[in-house]
Amino acid sequence: MSEKAQIGVTGLAVMGRNLARNFARHGHTVALHNRSYGRTKELVEEFGHEGKFIPSESAADFVASLERPRRVVIMVKAGGPTDAVIDEFAPLLEPGDMLIDAGNAHYLDTRRREAALKAKGLHFVGAGVSGGEEGALHGPSIMPGGPKESYDALGPLLEDIAAKVDGEPCCVHVGPDGAGHFVKMVHNGIEYADMQLIAEAYDLLRQVGGHEPAEIAAIFQDWNEGRLGSYLIEITAEVLKQVDASTGKPFVDIVVDQAEQKGTGRWTVQAALDLGVPVSGIAESVFARALSGGPDVRKAAADAGLPGPTAEKTHAGDLKADVEQALFASKIVAYAQGFQQIQAASKEYGWDIDPGAMAKIWRAGCIIRAKFLDFIKQAYDKQPELATLLVDDYFLDAVSGAQDAWRRVAATAAQQGIPAPGFASALAYYDGLRAKRLPAALIQGQRDFFGAHTYHRVDKDGSFHTLWATEDRKEVDA
Ligand code: 6PG
Repeated sequence: MSEKAQIGVTGLAVMGRNLARNFARHGHTVALHNRSYGRTKELVEEFGHEGKFIPSESAADFVASLERPRRVVIMVKAGGPTDAVIDEFAPLLEPGDMLIDAGNAHYLDTRRREAALKAKGLHFVGAGVSGGEEGALHGPSIMPGGPKESYDALGPLLEDIAAKVDGEPCCVHVGPDGAGHFVKMVHNGIEYADMQLIAEAYDLLRQVGGHEPAEIAAIFQDWNEGRLGSYLIEITAEVLKQVDASTGKPFVDIVVDQAEQKGTGRWTVQAALDLGVPVSGIAESVFARALSGGPDVRKAAADAGLPGPTAEKTHAGDLKADVEQALFASKIVAYAQGFQQIQAASKEYGWDIDPGAMAKIWRAGCIIRAKFLDFIKQAYDKQPELATLLVDDYFLDAVSGAQDAWRRVAATAAQQGIPAPGFASALAYYDGLRAKRLPAALIQGQRDFFGAHTYHRVDKDGSFHTLWATEDRKEVDA
């Protein structure tokens, strides 16, 4: 009886190839399949020495080379291509076998696919995999959803290849059906917000502080040793250090300033709007990318010579120290909003997601990996039902210590005409949360005036409407 593989990967572009290599390096026999067999052969030729691979040209041979319950990892483009692979493999599988979608699929697609395959006795696991190509090879953070019983058969393999912190794998069963892909989506939304805040910090240090990229790189390197320490801060220093070989200019100055996006940040905001969770930091980061990528509108603005402030570039304080504080406080807000969205979805879909466990598996392997996540894990371990991270002692203390600097930085950005939607919206969110009374009362009055949409009173229960069109504008029970 020829040896069977414990796991198979179909879709051997870089991510799929690196996941397959990672499984093989951890002693698992890995079945391989790709639409073009040439890529399968290349992998075995180049990396066959790393472990045991069973290459197959046809889907049928690939499935036949897998031990039961068969575990098939799909690593192809989200959307149509994933549906096509499912349609190709599902008929070849038997009850109890599982398909694992390790791409950035939309969680609603995953919920649909999981339900459809469950009807055929098959398990469908939507697994978020974060860390890019390097992570896939050396240890990603893995966020598998799907049926709990799937995890019993699949989890040990995923935990083998995941990044580790103090020996603990950055992989846990997130929750049923689309929970894993939802959490990965929010991870990416937080990633967008984090990147936007870092970019705003850079812009202020450059434009107001007058620092050159290499100097700012040193500042980020310094921050990376402290409470801001993270993969994104670390790579920012590297990008800012880079000098373009062909011009000798700082790399950051030869890159077109239009940010692109594959869509996961957008999805996060769309989902938050439906859940009614104000993820203003993530939303501003998505819109900032859209603004930067809108060449026609920006050209029209430039041609029209939209005027800016004439004041000289100054800051009423120690800019570097203040920006560090503003960056940390705004980052806390962005993460607090992201975790609030995860909790809201968990309640909406009955996923029972443990937010502390999500912070725990994001400590390494993923793009937002950071020391900071230890504090988030501690906060949720102390209070799993925490309404917002902002009321946890550690974060409350950090933000209260930062707020004067944060306000100075937001003021400087506004006065100097430097776009800082991330810093500004985070501060507005913070002030909105702590306000004793919000102007939403006036909005309720306006809505009742033009649409008779009714309002509640502070001094008694019930809904009310004022007869605005009448002489005495009498209030009536609604
Ligand atoms: C990760 C990354 C990964 C991908 C980005 C694409 O977690 O490994 O987030 O999923 O590189 O989502 O980034 P954009 O959406 O910015 O194109």
